Amino acid sequence: MFTTLLNQPNANPIPNDLFAAIEDLKKELNAVILAHYYQDADIQDIADYLGDSLGLSQQAASTNADVIVFAGVHFMAETAKILNPDKLVLLPDLEAGCSLADSCPPSEFARFKSQHPDHIVISYINCTAEIKAMSDIICTSSNAVKIVNQIPAEQPIIFAPDRNLGRYVMEETGRDMVLWQGSCIVHETFSEKKMVQLKIEHPEAEIIAHPECEEVVLRHANYIGSTTALLKYCQQSDSDGFIVATEPGIIHQMRKAAPHKTFIPAPAMSNCACNECPHMRLNTLEKLYLAMKNRQPEITMPEATRVAALRPIQRMLEMS
Ligand code: 13P
Ligand code: SF4
Repeated sequence: MFTTLLNQPNANPIPNDLFAAIEDLKKELNAVILAHYYQDADIQDIADYLGDSLGLSQQAASTNADVIVFAGVHFMAETAKILNPDKLVLLPDLEAGCSLADSCPPSEFARFKSQHPDHIVISYINCTAEIKAMSDIICTSSNAVKIVNQIPAEQPIIFAPDRNLGRYVMEETGRDMVLWQGSCIVHETFSEKKMVQLKIEHPEAEIIAHPECEEVVLRHANYIGSTTALLKYCQQSDSDGFIVATEPGIIHQMRKAAPHKTFIPAPAMSNCACNECPHMRLNTLEKLYLAMKNRQPEITMPEATRVAALRPIQRMLEMS
């Protein structure tokens, strides 16, 4: 039994049981579905591996599948392709970009880098393949502090593109770094004032936050970490309530892991759903099915860019 996508009479029919159809395609293609915590709950539920950016790169580096279906954003699928040039890497919606990656255009970054010729470049994985190709080491929110701590003290560092993570890493390591002034629209949307108000209403709740948040938000946090670290923290903590300052997709896993605990999304400045990543949420279960069925949209890039971007990713995997 098939239904057809509304307003698209010629589109591929969509099976009623998408979960079963995706499972069938997974076997047919020898595919693996890698998903980030910021995906819709049903995509999280069908994923073979669900994780943060570091975990997803490690899975992409070690998979035996022929096809990688990346339920995340463009830079994540690109990283999987850089690591797997001979595999087909699919992204359900090619428009699923990232405001942080967009905030670092390659030509401007090349100019910035040339102004600091003695610096090494450590780039957060949330950047394009072109920026990775101009970097010495890639990091994620879970290993940034560990990686910076491994760089000799006398070696100056450019950190790109996230100024909030960069500032947090500077504080944690005591290192001075030259920061590219990029940011994430989602993590900069939280209101300090509303969060403090929420904490007054729920004094027992702990505030947990992603390091992409602004300093004014992070200074109220009881714990700061990557999405995986936040998930582990709320399981291990004695607290029963948490105010969660990151994209609320992760709360699906928090509720599964600790069903008796309460998770409150940190409030955005305006009364909107601006704390949901508009890029991540472009992927849907239907688009994921269609991508597998049609073997597209596929991630591709020039081989020279891929080869140049591979080395700093490999350095990250070695240093993690
Ligand atoms: P992590 O996956 O490292 O927690 O980063 C979150 C994020 O913003 C991904 O886009
Ligand atoms: Fe990019 Fe922010 Fe969305 Fe992550 S949450 S994909 S950093 S825009």
